[in-house]
Amino acid sequence: MANTNAEIGVIGGSGLYSFLEDVTEVTVDTPYGSPSDSLFLGEVGGRKVAFLPRHGRGHRIPPHRINYRANLWALRSVGVRQVLSPCAVGGLRPEYGPGTLVVPDQLVDRTKSRTETYFDGETRPDGAVPNVVHTTFADPYCPAGRAVAMKAARGRDWEPVDGGALVVIEGPRFSTRAESRWFASEGWSIVGMTGHPEAVLARELALCYTALALVTDLDAGAETGEGVSHTEVMRVFGENVGRLREVLFDAVAALPAEVERDCLCVGAHDGWNLGIDLP
Ligand code: ADE
Repeated sequence: MANTNAEIGVIGGSGLYSFLEDVTEVTVDTPYGSPSDSLFLGEVGGRKVAFLPRHGRGHRIPPHRINYRANLWALRSVGVRQVLSPCAVGGLRPEYGPGTLVVPDQLVDRTKSRTETYFDGETRPDGAVPNVVHTTFADPYCPAGRAVAMKAARGRDWEPVDGGALVVIEGPRFSTRAESRWFASEGWSIVGMTGHPEAVLARELALCYTALALVTDLDAGAETGEGVSHTEVMRVFGENVGRLREVLFDAVAALPAEVERDCLCVGAHDGWNLGIDLP
């Protein structure tokens, strides 16, 4: 029988449109509409994985138009409880050049137009009315997932940057030099377009969420940067996608089993009446 459930989700970013071989394609609908694409279910290292191309096949959906709520909901609805989220980012420090892998531990939201919660007090199309919920988000990434990602990268001789703040801009344009210099002067490490609201929606669904950020360029304000182009981002991502896939495979295999999951993400809703049933 076809495999229609999974425990681990991988949301592939720019340049990572397929992840697994021998997959079962599953179309999932959600109360929030359609996700970016089908889910592609398969196995890695004995673990059941659901892969979702964040921008859809062929990179159709720009960052500000992605239905983040549907994406996370779809993954959870097939059983996913831990998510690995590779993404392309710009480096905000000269030493974080193209090819650097960062496992961020903080997030700064500079987006403008995105629905960032399941608990917005509005009646859903299916009639459910979420309660007011204030999610604890001081530490936006899963500590256990981060440790696994770091170890997996080191195991492939790719020394990652341990921590740092990812600032998420609205896009789809890249930053101006002034914006980029400002981000760097705040001490933020990398800049991307999709990390928010993905991370907070994952937390609202009590999913463990870990970002693996591949630096594809020095953002506009970094000392040696010359301004970012989409072509450059895709080229550098393509050059690194092979080893990124290896790291992701190793990380998937090493993530804690469901019974061993014991982190802040799991207890995100302790004591709350959500007003909706999580899938
Ligand atoms: N993705 C890849 N490079 C980026 C940059 N410099 N800014 C925002 N998103 C990016």
